[in-house]
Amino acid sequence: MSSSNLPLPHGGELVKLRPAPVISSKNIVPYRLTPRQFADLEMISIGAYSPLCTFMGNDDYLSVIESTSLANGTLWSIPIVFQVHVGQISPNTHALALIAENGVHVATLQIEEQFHLNLELESAKIYQTSSLEHPGVKALYAGGEIGVTGELTVHQDLRGYQGIEHTTPAQTREIFTERQWRTIAAFQTRNPVHRAHEYLHKVALELVDGLFLNPLVGQTKGDDVPVPARMEAYKVLLEKYYPKDRVFLGIYPAAMRYAGPKEAILHAISRKNYGCTHFIVGRDHAGVGNYYGTYAAQEIFETIDKSKLGIEILKFEHSFYCSRCEQVASKRTCPHAPDFHIALSGTKVRELLSTGANLPPQFSRPEVAEVLREAYAK
Ligand code: ADX
Repeated sequence: MSSSNLPLPHGGELVKLRPAPVISSKNIVPYRLTPRQFADLEMISIGAYSPLCTFMGNDDYLSVIESTSLANGTLWSIPIVFQVHVGQISPNTHALALIAENGVHVATLQIEEQFHLNLELESAKIYQTSSLEHPGVKALYAGGEIGVTGELTVHQDLRGYQGIEHTTPAQTREIFTERQWRTIAAFQTRNPVHRAHEYLHKVALELVDGLFLNPLVGQTKGDDVPVPARMEAYKVLLEKYYPKDRVFLGIYPAAMRYAGPKEAILHAISRKNYGCTHFIVGRDHAGVGNYYGTYAAQEIFETIDKSKLGIEILKFEHSFYCSRCEQVASKRTCPHAPDFHIALSGTKVRELLSTGANLPPQFSRPEVAEVLREAYAK
């Protein structure tokens, strides 16, 4: 079936690295992937980072930092670099045998280019801070000072998260087409779905044909809710509160960078690769602490040429539970004073869970609260 209604992948074509056999050679050195490297590798290999078909070289790296685009002018907001430490790779190494956590040689990276990273510039331009308290900056500095790239070959399908919700961009495009959805809103989250999230979903569903609930399952910071509990919570929520034929749940294997506005662009581009026409951006999207303005991740899209982005941004105000309205609302819909408003956020949900408190129904559907309470009691 043709998928002509869906937006073209970023850069024009969907990348799909087909598994090829391992070819042995003297100068291949085993290299154990970090969880973040595995996540990037998986994202590249399934085409979620199309048009990237390998890690970035120096030209793309600098261009992304300075001009928010690849060297050929394609919009791109965050460097995707294979980072190593100085001296980690000996000069006569021709290729790296990339080894996953389970010890399997999953891919091979030819070494055609090695370059020095400018971590100071990268953290200033991409994260807007050099603070090592910022989890994204901390991970960046921990990754190493050298970028390595060359031809990338995968030797098997990469599945960091084992589950039926593991759908690739090629598969979601087929599914959306089969369901005859012409407009699809993608929702990124690193949290269990609370009532404000649900409100965003349902407002979006009034406007588009389908919702792609696309939780990020790569590495997050230590206090985020673990993936298995989140997946169970999403399933029970969809089962009880959403129209089955208008929602599709599939994972997003990337690691979280917490880069706020710049990450929102990357999130939008990659959801276009999954076939989505719309992308939801609420308050402090992909933010952490107080590094970014509440709506900075929305405002950045005003600075971008829409034709280069190719996906519509659905922007949402900060939403809260209003005890006078007796529903989730925002200042666009609710006339009552802040005293009546209960703020809803992933951080609040995690705080309550870690103290063993029950999540009130204004925060979370009871079935979701139960799944999370059990997960935290273990
Ligand atoms: S994120 O790091 O993945 O952005 P989170 O899972 O909390 O964090 O948010 C998912 C999406 O919901 C983001 O677009 C975020 O802006 C939005 N969002 C979260 N909470 C609210 C809220 N209370 N009001 C409006 N938007 C929200």
